[in-house]
Parts: sequence; C-alpha cells; structure tokens
Amino acid sequence: MKTIRVKLGQNSYNICIDSGILSQTGQILRELGLNDKAVIITNPIVEKLYSTSLKQSLASKGFRTTTLFVPDGEEYKSLESAGKLYHQLTESGAERTTPLLALGGGVIGDLAGFVAATYMRGVPLVQLPTTLLAQVDSSIGGKVAVNHGQLKNNIGAFHQPKTVISDTATLKTLPDTEMANGISEVIKYAVIKDKELFTYLEKNLDLIKSLDDNALETIIAKSAQIKAEVVENDEKDMGLRNTLNFGHTIGHAVETVSDFEIAHGQAVAIGMMAMVKIAAKLGIIGPNIIIRLEKLLKRAGLMTRLPRLEVKQIMQAMQYDKKVQSGKIRFILPRAIGEVFITDDVNPALVEKILMELK
Ligand code: NAD
Ligand code: GLY
Repeated sequence: MKTIRVKLGQNSYNICIDSGILSQTGQILRELGLNDKAVIITNPIVEKLYSTSLKQSLASKGFRTTTLFVPDGEEYKSLESAGKLYHQLTESGAERTTPLLALGGGVIGDLAGFVAATYMRGVPLVQLPTTLLAQVDSSIGGKVAVNHGQLKNNIGAFHQPKTVISDTATLKTLPDTEMANGISEVIKYAVIKDKELFTYLEKNLDLIKSLDDNALETIIAKSAQIKAEVVENDEKDMGLRNTLNFGHTIGHAVETVSDFEIAHGQAVAIGMMAMVKIAAKLGIIGPNIIIRLEKLLKRAGLMTRLPRLEVKQIMQAMQYDKKVQSGKIRFILPRAIGEVFITDDVNPALVEKILMELK
C-alpha cells in the first residue's frame, strides 16, 4: 500500500492506494472516528461492481449504510441531482456528522462532494474513486462542483475529503477509453512537475495499459503526490494550482465545441500538444519535447491532432474559460519536461495559427 498525506492543517488527510483496498474501508473509517451511519452515493454501474465488498467491509466494522443512486453520466452532475440527493438525505435521517461516501468516477465524486459541502453547511466526505482520472485527479484537492447551463463546474465549493481510498483493482473493469482519459492526466503531471515520471511512462506504458498492479500503483501515487503538493501550496486556486490546468484551456474549449463528443482526456491531449507547439514557436523549448510528447500520447491511445472542428469556434469558446481574467486567456507553457510557467501573454493569433497547424 502507498499512502500520501495531503497537508492542509486541520483539513489534512491520507490518500491510500492499493489493489483491493476497498475491502479495508470499514477499518480506515473506524480509525478516522467517523459516525457509523454512512451514506454511499454511487451510480448503478459502479454499485453493481463494487458496492458488495464495500458494504461488507463497512458492516464488519459496525457501520450502517444507506445507498443513494444517481444515473450514470455527466449530465447528472447537476443542481437537479443535488436537489434530489438533499431530499433523500433528509428522508434517510442524515445528520451533520453523517459521512457521505462517493463511490465512482469524477462525476460521482464531484456531485457527492458538492452535496457534502452544502448539505447542513457541510458534512464529512470520503472519496472512493473507481476511475483512473478520479484516482489521480478529481478525488484529490477538494474541488467539488456541478455543471449549470452550458458551463462545466461553475457552481461549486472547496470541501476536502476526510480520506481518499483508491483501489487500483477497480480499474480492471474500466473501459479502455476511460483508462486513456486518466493516462492523459498522468502525462499532464509528468510534463508540469516530474521528468522522471515522464521517462517512467515512456518505459512502462505497455505495462500500465495491461493494468499491472505495481505500475498502476506507481503512477497513481506519483500523480497524487504531485497534486497534493500543488494543493498544499495553493488550496484555493489563486496561482500555482493553475498549473494543473496545463492543456486544459484549449482542452475545455475542444470538449465544448465538440458537444462533449470528444472526451476530456482526448481534448486535454490536443491542448497539451498545442501548448508545446506554442512554446516551441516562442523559442522556449526545442522540437524534441514535441516529438516525445506526441509519441507518448499516441501510444496511450490519445489524439494529437484536432479533428474536424472549427478553429474560430474553439477560440471563441476559450473566452468562457474560468481562467480568463480581464479578457486575457491564461496559458500554462512548458519550459522543459517537468517545468511549466503561467502566462497570459500569448498572442491569440499565434494560438489560432497553432490550432490550424494541428488540424
Ligand atoms: P465518470 O465519472 O463519468 O466515469 C466514466 C465512466 O466510467 C462512467 O460511465 C462510470 O460509470 C464508469 N465507471 C466508473 N468506475 C468504473 C469502473 N471501475 N469500472 C467500470 N466502469 C466504471 O468520468 P471520470 O473521467 O471519472 O470523471 C470526469 C469528471 O471529473 C468530470 O465531471 C470532470 O469535470 C471531473 N473532474 C473534476 C476534477 C476536480 O478536481 N474536482 C478534476 C478533473 C475532473
Ligand atoms: N483539476 C484541477 C484542480 O484540481 O485544480
């Protein structure tokens, strides 16, 4: 087992990573002293796969559980779903100390987290992420949110979990497309903060794709460590935390313009390609980084070229990004593999030119 501590004073917590660790949830929550009446929030797909072992583990340590369901899909990460959950929590007698256990991918984690942040002004949250993306990214750092109107994650809060329990064995049932989405975020961490992780990915990508337990534990722990350090230094996203959005400004715009037909990880991969190409055009990095990144993304099953979308629409969609300040779009550019910087000084004409080149 690997344990990463997220150090945030009174809100500090452990991220526990291991194959089969879901069956130790009861013990871990007992040690945290959480109320023994717990509510599991999940979707029908994940419930069918993993709730039996979770419930057994909780029952064996004296926890009583209620399970609440949200249908599968990003469209259910909404205020309407949150409203239904508030109602069901009230009906089931949930109190201010009742822990909410988010069992699922980032959609469940963000929604259950948002409900945990707001129900009775905040109840304890436990993240039980079952996708690679959720294990390396969304379950860590306390950003919880729902989508509203056309905009993603625009109604939210910061609400740190009491613990994150990442069971790598749950990734065995994850579709390949979802694995690729998660690997995209791992590559992002390597480019922003860890050149050794980048080399590790180059050497071990096949092992990772074959779901080797050790390789999975290694990349999840390394990613979690990077995210933990960034969050410890900038919990409320005032500066440094922006670096986690490497590739995401263009990525979000690509997702939006494609009407979410292009998955998040795929869109971020295109965004990362755009960032290294911009950095190369500005003379900040050499061509070798572009070649290495493109090769790695391709091997991971990720897109490196922009499909059929209108560049003008992507440029327009970027104006709605949460990172736009005083009309200027903020980009994260690489200085090297393992080092990035934040700038709002990239000429939009250059961005447009690079997007055209990526078509
Ligand atoms: P997801 O939650 O939709 O899960 C992807 C699919 O996999 C779903 O169909 C789900 O039911 C299924 N699934 C989950 N676990 C499974 C398993 N073990 N086996 C088989 N199927 C399984 O998608 P995601 O990629 O995990 O998360 C995306 C969400 O995360 C987005 O809403 C995004 O905005 C959010 N996000 C949040 C943060 C944050 O910091 N809070 C960071 C990144 C992304
Ligand atoms: N996923 C970006 C962040 O947590 O800040």
